[in-house]
Amino acid sequence: MLKSLSLVLVGMATPLVAEIGRVATPDEIAAWDIDVRPDGAGLPEGSGSVAMGETVFEEKCAACHGDFGEGVGRYPALAGGFDTLTDERPVKTVGSYWPYLSTVWDYVHRAMPYGEAQTLSNDEVYAVTAYILYLNDLVDDEAFVLGRENFAEIPLPNMVNFYDDDRATVEIPQFTGPVCMSGCKATAAITKHAAGADVTPE
Ligand code: HEC
Repeated sequence: MLKSLSLVLVGMATPLVAEIGRVATPDEIAAWDIDVRPDGAGLPEGSGSVAMGETVFEEKCAACHGDFGEGVGRYPALAGGFDTLTDERPVKTVGSYWPYLSTVWDYVHRAMPYGEAQTLSNDEVYAVTAYILYLNDLVDDEAFVLGRENFAEIPLPNMVNFYDDDRATVEIPQFTGPVCMSGCKATAAITKHAAGADVTPE
């Protein structure tokens, strides 16, 4: 909750109080408060079908992401890439990689179409999100309707490979022990040069 700021200068005989700003209005807070969580919390009312999503997608997304979400040029693919995550060059898409459908809804609602962010209605965002599921073979019926009610029932395939931030138990102990400063490793050998990967200018 945003509050007006009071700047209090202490350490003076009579503290000076400067009243800065004002309380944010409910409308201002609502305009910022648009995040959607994996359990669907934060989703607005609305719904959209795969068929409606196809129309929106062709008009407003396909120029960059391709008719089937395959990605045009260097614009990101939104579909496919299943079973590539352990490859040397994994294809990370909404279908193959993203953990939660809420991230798709939130991201599209907030940031797409690129250059014209936040021009879609809530129903259109539900519809293109449903269409992206369809492009990834995660729903197979064009009549499928995605809405707030059934949103949390649709897990993405790679969700199981994400886990809660476990730094406190895993990493902090590794970085808080005594620091090795010499002879830490028996051998150190150069196995590769960056020039070999052809990424370094002559
Ligand atoms: C003018 C080109 C363009 C259009 C039109 C466009 N996008 Fe994008 N989209 C991008 C670019 C560029 C990115 C990557 C942005 C970044 O990484 O900062 C992106 C990223 C995305 C991503 C995340 C992909 C990933 O795996 O990181 C999704 C999902 C997405 N767009 C959906 C949509 C939808 C849905 C529409 C239509 C409503 C749309 N986009 C329209 C250019 C476009």
